[in-house]
Amino acid sequence: MATTKTFVLLIFTLIPLCFPLAKSIHFNIPAVFNFGDSNSDTGGLVSAGIESLNPPYGQNYFKIPSGRYCDGRLIVDFLMDAMDLPFLNSYLDSIGTPSFRKGCNFAAAGSRIMPATATSVSPFSFGVQVAQFIRFKSRALELLAKGKKFVKYLPAEDFFGKALYMFDIGQNDLAGAFYSQTLDQIIASIPTTLSEFETGIKKLYDQGARNFWIHNTGPLGCLTQNVLKFGTDPSKLDEQGCVGGHNQAAKLFNLQLHALAKKLQGQYSDANFTYVDIFTIKSNLIANYTKYGFEQPIMACCGYGGPPFNYDFRIACGQTKIINGTLVTAKGCNDSTDYISWDGIHYTEAANQFVSSQILTGKYSDPPFSDKMPFLLKLKF
Ligand SMILES: *[C@@H]1O[C@H](CO)[C@@H](O)[C@H](O)[C@H]1NC(C)=O
Ligand SMILES: *[C@@H]1O[C@H](CO)[C@@H](O)[C@H](O)[C@H]1NC(C)=O
Ligand SMILES: *[C@@H]1O[C@H](CO)[C@@H](O)[C@H](O)[C@H]1NC(C)=O
Ligand SMILES: *[C@@H]1O[C@H](CO)[C@@H](O)[C@H](O)[C@H]1NC(C)=O
Repeated sequence: MATTKTFVLLIFTLIPLCFPLAKSIHFNIPAVFNFGDSNSDTGGLVSAGIESLNPPYGQNYFKIPSGRYCDGRLIVDFLMDAMDLPFLNSYLDSIGTPSFRKGCNFAAAGSRIMPATATSVSPFSFGVQVAQFIRFKSRALELLAKGKKFVKYLPAEDFFGKALYMFDIGQNDLAGAFYSQTLDQIIASIPTTLSEFETGIKKLYDQGARNFWIHNTGPLGCLTQNVLKFGTDPSKLDEQGCVGGHNQAAKLFNLQLHALAKKLQGQYSDANFTYVDIFTIKSNLIANYTKYGFEQPIMACCGYGGPPFNYDFRIACGQTKIINGTLVTAKGCNDSTDYISWDGIHYTEAANQFVSSQILTGKYSDPPFSDKMPFLLKLKF
């Protein structure tokens, strides 16, 4: 017992030292509105009743599954913390009078930029998330006009213009397409996908949004699930052991997303667009994992099957099922801080903390962080 406790304590004290987080940076924004997929879903899809998550999801920080596809905190949680703001409640979470005073999260796991189809995991495509925001805003203003009763739970009217609007979406448009389309087809569909994204951004601008913070998509070819499914032919893998085609599609998507951010910045001189290069941060982590204190770059911490992937399409992390005649459970590894992949699709809290610390250096953004950033008040020390 005693040794376990010491071990846990050690992990908790070591992580902040390894990746000093943004306690050093202060953003002067009153609220955050976030749009995206599982990378930033703080409980949307689970609140909607579409999926449920079992332990060991959430084991590290929240101590309950918490609706996040992670063992603990997501990048968006670390960023909120860095901005001295509370974790975002999900728009769809109706239980326990959640406060949306400091923002609201419209992200839902499985969501795409493009409209959902009958077989989509999530019906909450980007367009739906934007529509939910519009509904949120008009309903909030309606309630605030009725008196002080809701002040604690809803953003003040002027927060909408001053808020940070964050985006992390596109991964499912690309990764999902590889199951039915060729690389060429996927690459050819990127402009249509980004045009849908642009439509949503413009609707938010028309609603008064002015500070946009756009994450690009990560190295999809390095996700355990994709390596297992699409990397059986070693010639398809790059030097990091990632599927080349997936990463190529992600890179092309990102180039065009970056160009779109630039274009929008040119069109809307009274707004600020920040493009954040998550791809480079995650690729660096996976390529140089030992340097950053990780032991497993690709293998999932929580899953079934053991090395080299510990991932099985038939059973998800936390599930118990009869597989091949035997009752099995997809369990967590002993120490998730050794792993980059939590469940074969999503990153561990330790990896998310590393990525967040890198975002907050400001070096991976365009424009790079500086004291010129609109919503950056001052360095705390
Ligand atoms: C790994 O680290 C080396 C040395 O810092 C760096 O040059 C390289 O770009 C990194 N790899 C990736 C994929 O970022
Ligand atoms: C089922 O188990 C048998 C015996 O262990 C094994 O040979 C076979 O590959 C397994 N099938 C699957 C689909 O895992
Ligand atoms: C996990 O920890 C248990 C108990 O300390 C140990 O028996 C087991 O070998 C460990 N498993 C791995 C994969 O390290
Ligand atoms: C955008 O940033 C500039 C400085 O880079 C700042 O002067 C301006 O107020 C910002 N606009 C908004 C809407 O925050």
